[in-house]
Amino acid sequence: MVNDRKVAIVGCGFVGSSSAFALMQSGLFSEMVLIDVDRDRAEGEALDISHGTPFGNPMKIYAGDYEDAADAAIIVVTAGAAQKPGETRLDLVNKNVSIFKSIIPRIREAGFEGILLIVSNPVDVLTYAAMKMSGLPQSHVLGSGTVLDSARLKEALGAHLDVDPRNVHAYIIGEHGDSELAVWSSANVSGVPLSDFCEMRGHYDHLASEKKIADDVKNAAYNIISKKHATYYGIAMSVRRLCTAIMRDEKHILPVSSLMVGEYGLDDICISMPTIVGRNGVECRVPVSLSNEEYAELHRSADALKDVMSNVDFEA
Ligand SMILES: NC(=O)c1ccc[n+]([C@@H]2O[C@H](COP(=O)([O-])OP(=O)(O)OC[C@H]3O[C@@H](n4cnc5c(N)ncnc54)[C@H](O)[C@@H]3O)[C@@H](O)[C@H]2O)c1
Repeated sequence: MVNDRKVAIVGCGFVGSSSAFALMQSGLFSEMVLIDVDRDRAEGEALDISHGTPFGNPMKIYAGDYEDAADAAIIVVTAGAAQKPGETRLDLVNKNVSIFKSIIPRIREAGFEGILLIVSNPVDVLTYAAMKMSGLPQSHVLGSGTVLDSARLKEALGAHLDVDPRNVHAYIIGEHGDSELAVWSSANVSGVPLSDFCEMRGHYDHLASEKKIADDVKNAAYNIISKKHATYYGIAMSVRRLCTAIMRDEKHILPVSSLMVGEYGLDDICISMPTIVGRNGVECRVPVSLSNEEYAELHRSADALKDVMSNVDFEA
């Protein structure tokens, strides 16, 4: 029986604890279980975050084990090694797939039936691994994918155009990593094509601006990691946004990573595309139109992921 008031987080490092802090403030749940191989870490974070509840929402927050998470509506997995300066997300693959082999089977054995939200990197490969190992329906396993990258894109465009980023409709799709791409052809600000809106705001050098903004978004994690060793606030807000879309059955369109079954000619790979997200997880992918060049770039991104996946043993 799924308890709609309960969430669990596996991995209580920078990303897990920031996500827990964001979820505590969200009011979406009244119970939160924190799980980590480092039990002290989980206990310390549970205590620290629970001390904020009198200023927010009443909530039971405690360190626990997989059995405590069995009836959670959502388990967020942020466990694993993080990128070190100079390391790509794909460099992490073998370390984190083996960590997943010690986590996902335990979630399955506990009898979990909720939504599994994967955040650990490389998120597309690990979402695929979690899908294979969890035995859950495909729709119940999703990765945070390019939700954060798309937020970075909206924030950058909002600043460039001096407009509320919530009015910017633009997506980063593909791998959450070096081969991701911005879908410029359909980007708009409240229905006004992006290039028209740029000219309205006095910007005419579209190609140079697009390249700079897309590069800044792609390199944002490297830039932050070189300065403060980790990124966690942006992803914590992305986790909160995803949990809100799921628990409130919003059917909100978010570029999550999920299993492609023939869309855009892609199969047997988890990759990010705009997707309707609701109480059952992935409802369906939205067929955004892509230019020929974007379509080719998406395939290059998928090929880069497939190349890495071909060397990974996904058996639990
Ligand atoms: N998807 C995104 O957009 C995004 C953004 C930022 C970071 N990340 C990823 O999130 C992950 C975590 O990053 P971080 O900065 O919090 O790292 P961190 O090192 O601070 O935390 C990782 C935590 O995982 C725990 N852990 C390790 N093995 C475990 C296991 N077998 N079972 C339970 N817990 C285990 C560790 O004890 C630690 O507390 C990394 O893979 C990172 O690349 C993803």
